[in-house]
Amino acid sequence: MKTQVCIIGAGPAGLLLGHLLRAEGVDCVVLERRSPDYVLSRIRAGVLENITVSLMERLGLDQRLKAEGLPHDGFNLADGERLIRIDIADLTGGQQVVVYGQTELTRDLMDAREERGLEVIYETEDTALFDVESDAPYVTYTKDGTQHRVDCRFIVGCDGFHGPSRKAIPASVGKEYMREYPFGWLGILADVPPCNHELIYANHERGFALASMRSETRSRYYVDVPLTDKVDDWSDERLWDELAIRLGPEAAANITRGSALEKSIAPLRSFVFAPMRHGSLLLCGDSAHIVPPTGAKGLNLAASDVHYAAEALTGFFNKSDNDAITAYSDTALARVWKSERFSWSLTKLMHRFPEDGLFERAMQQAELDYIASSRAAQTSIAENYVGLPV
Ligand code: FAD
Ligand code: DHB
Repeated sequence: MKTQVCIIGAGPAGLLLGHLLRAEGVDCVVLERRSPDYVLSRIRAGVLENITVSLMERLGLDQRLKAEGLPHDGFNLADGERLIRIDIADLTGGQQVVVYGQTELTRDLMDAREERGLEVIYETEDTALFDVESDAPYVTYTKDGTQHRVDCRFIVGCDGFHGPSRKAIPASVGKEYMREYPFGWLGILADVPPCNHELIYANHERGFALASMRSETRSRYYVDVPLTDKVDDWSDERLWDELAIRLGPEAAANITRGSALEKSIAPLRSFVFAPMRHGSLLLCGDSAHIVPPTGAKGLNLAASDVHYAAEALTGFFNKSDNDAITAYSDTALARVWKSERFSWSLTKLMHRFPEDGLFERAMQQAELDYIASSRAAQTSIAENYVGLPV
C-alpha cells in the first residue's frame, strides 16, 4: 500500500490526527494492534480542555460531546476538612473544562470512520518502522498471518507508551526524562450519581482521593494505593469505605455506593522523550510523554500534539511548506513541558509520599493555605487546568 501518512495507533491521538488529515485531503492509513472493542474497553481520562473540544468541533464530530458532555466552571482541592474551590470560569475569563469520557470521544471518532473515508486497520501484529531518516520510510505489519507493507512520506507514532515508534529513534539521538512515583491510582467506575457536582481532589492523611464523574448517573473515583497492591485486594466495599474517609464527611454523606463496572490500577509516571521528530517520523501523545493523571492532562496533551502535527503535515502536503515540520518537536515540547510541570506539582501537592516527613507535609499545608487565600495562586492553577494556549 502507498499513502502520504502512516499513523501507528488508533487511540484518541491516532484517530484525531487521521480525521484532521482526511478533512484537509491528505491521504493516510491508521494501524491499530487491538480490536475496536478492546480500545473502547480501556477506561481512562475524563476531563477535556478547550483544545480537545475545539478539534472535535472543527471536525464537526462534536454533536454528542455538546449534548452529553458536562461543562464545569470549577473544581475543588480538599485538605482534611477544608475545601478550596478553584473557580476556573471566573479566574480565566469564562473558560471551562468539559467532562466527557475518553471512551466516548474515541467512539465518536471511530463511528465517523466510514463517513469520512478514514481507513483504520485493526488487529495488526508485529508493526515495524523502517528508513525513518529517509524521505521514503515504510511500515510493515502482519494481519491474519499475511505480511503487509505501507510506503509513505511520513510516519506518525500515536502508539502510546509501549508502542514501537519511539524505539525507532536511535538512542544516540533521543533523550529520556523520567520520574516514577511510589504509588498508583486505583479507579472505580460505577452507575451511581456523583457525590458532588464538581470534581474533588483530596489530600487526606490516609492518602489521595479523587471524586469525578462521566455523567449525572455515572461516577468515577480514584484513591492512591501502594504499587504492590492488586485490584483483588480491594473489594468494592473496602474501596467505598476508603473513599468516604479520604473525601471527608461532607462528600461522604453524598456518596452513593454501587457495584464496579470497572476497577483498575494505573502506575503514576512523568516521562518526556525528546526530540518528538526524527527525520520522517513524528511522535504524538503518550508515545512521547506521560504525565501523572492529577492534572487531567494526558489526553489533552495528545490533542495539542495532534493539532501541531496536523498543521505541519497539511502545510507540507498542501502548501509545500516544510517549516512547521522542522519546528514540530520544539513547538510541541514547549507545551508538553508546561503540562508536565503542572501535573508534577499538583501530584506533589495532593499526595502523601512515603519518603516525606513533617517538613514536606508542612510545605503542602502552607501551599494549600496560600492557594486558599490568593487569587493570583488560584489563577495560576485555573489557567493550567483549563489548558495553556496552543
Ligand atoms: P493511547 O490511548 O495509549 O493509544 C495508543 C494506541 O496505540 C492504542 O490503541 C494501542 O493499542 C496502539 N498501539 C500500541 N502499540 C501498537 C502497535 N505496535 N501497532 C499498532 N498500534 C499499537 N489521562 C487523564 O487525563 N486522566 C486519567 O484518568 C487517565 N487515566 C489513565 C489510565 C491508564 C491505565 C493509562 C495508560 C492512561 C491514562 N491517562 C489518563 C492518560 C490518557 O488516557 C492518555 O494520555 C491518552 O490515552 C493518550 O492517547 P494516545 O492516543 O496518545 O495513546
Ligand atoms: C479524571 C481523571 C483525572 O486524572 C483527573 O485529573 C480528573 C478526572 C476522570 O477519570 O474522570
